[in-house]
Amino acid sequence: MARRPKSAKVRAEVKESRAEKTASYGDLQPAKGKLGIMIPGMGAVATTFVAGVEAVRKGIAKPIGSVTQMGTIRLGKRTEGRSPKIKEFVPLANLDDLVFTGWDIFEDNMFDAATNAGVLDRYLLEQIKPFLQKITPRKAVFDHNYVKLIDGPNVKKGKNKMDLAEQVREDIRQFKKSSGASRLITIWCGSTESFIQPTAVHQSLKALEKAFEQNDENIPPSMVYAYASLKEGVPFANGAPNLTVDVPAMHELSREHEAPICGKDFKTGQTLIKTILAPGFKARMLGLAGWFSTNILGNRDGEVLEDPGSFKTKEESKLSVLEHILQPDLYPDLYGDFTHKVRINYYPPRGDNKEGWDNIDIFGWLGYPMQIKVDFLCRDSILAAPIVLDLVLFLDLAQRTPELRGLGIQEWLSFYFKSPMTAPGLYPEHDLFIQLMKLKNTLRHLRGEELITHLGLEYYD
Ligand SMILES: NC(=O)c1ccc[n+]([C@@H]2O[C@H](COP(=O)([O-])OP(=O)(O)OC[C@H]3O[C@@H](n4cnc5c(N)ncnc54)[C@H](O)[C@@H]3O)[C@@H](O)[C@H]2O)c1
Repeated sequence: MARRPKSAKVRAEVKESRAEKTASYGDLQPAKGKLGIMIPGMGAVATTFVAGVEAVRKGIAKPIGSVTQMGTIRLGKRTEGRSPKIKEFVPLANLDDLVFTGWDIFEDNMFDAATNAGVLDRYLLEQIKPFLQKITPRKAVFDHNYVKLIDGPNVKKGKNKMDLAEQVREDIRQFKKSSGASRLITIWCGSTESFIQPTAVHQSLKALEKAFEQNDENIPPSMVYAYASLKEGVPFANGAPNLTVDVPAMHELSREHEAPICGKDFKTGQTLIKTILAPGFKARMLGLAGWFSTNILGNRDGEVLEDPGSFKTKEESKLSVLEHILQPDLYPDLYGDFTHKVRINYYPPRGDNKEGWDNIDIFGWLGYPMQIKVDFLCRDSILAAPIVLDLVLFLDLAQRTPELRGLGIQEWLSFYFKSPMTAPGLYPEHDLFIQLMKLKNTLRHLRGEELITHLGLEYYD
């Protein structure tokens, strides 16, 4: 049945009432006051993120790649024409309200660290130099056994890991006071730590705290920051593949303090492409014989990943993706026997400008083989920085939202991670498009909007 066109007056009224509804954000609390961002690890990703936020605030550049800043969300039926910007639909902190601090084993301020990282050009950095120079690193919690290939002087001393956690808690309280922030978020942008598996000390908060007191070797520095943050009621996101908050004891702490957590390992570069292509092959029921991924990169992250322990942590994170997307158990003829290899080579001349090659052996109708070659000349930190921005804004939203703040793991943020954390026993969703739908449907749900199922039969009634 044809729809009767609405009069201009009715259209204006509908628009106005929607604008009012959007401005009031329904039941969600508005983001009042400053949001303090605390970053363990002030290297390439962290400096590209902070410098980028300041450049956007000054109108020097645009926040490309950030879903919170550029993305829209369709509401209601396709015929309604309602697609507000995400940042207008839910109450996210304004970029002008962000304030920053961080910890690092090196003493460089953010301007020097950004210059060393070599991601952003000198011309851009010079325009925001005074701002970046004011952000100096606090003394880090560091243990050489967990990151073997770097060492630095700016490190805390303490009688055990609980004492170090207390010092980080003091840093957090001090930053909150000095910055005047009303809310805080911690996001780990530190190096990838050596591979460890969950042990008995990670199974309950009680066991974890005892392990902190006893200086147990199963507590890496990232857990010290995470514990300190959660104890202070501060949400924690993990940008590296380290275990950090992905153990039952941290889930417990997160729920107890209503401080949301998410991780692991920012989904940038090669894995981003993998989670775009693999769902496409599966959608068309094309088979996979093998996927060989290799990279050259020359930044400090690449240097750290030369150590077999740190590489193993990264490799586990990168390898899990295809298994989960392709579901070999459901499709043994297509994905029952594929070879998946990932290599990372430290090659200093490339700096942060990584090159990732993928050779993909697929097969089609009657088993005939085909090949796809991808050569992605990417900029790792340019892809990671908007993810950091979105995560801190969404985690802050989660903490202001009664329905989300006590859940612990924020699975709706899987979109941003190579190894999304999930409730125990639940397999992670890796397909980028399902992840995006999950994220947007979560936002619709929070605002009491209809979820979008793409069924669409009603258009043909
Ligand atoms: N760049 C990307 O696209 C990307 C994608 C996914 C994950 N990551 C992960 O994000 C992290 C940061 O990457 P990056 O390229 O900025 O690396 P980077 O080496 O430039 O920066 C890491 C910083 O962390 C510091 N650090 C190490 N241990 C620390 C500790 N215990 N406390 C405080 N500081 C510590 C190092 O001194 C260094 O300055 C790495 O773990 C990396 O694997 C990056």
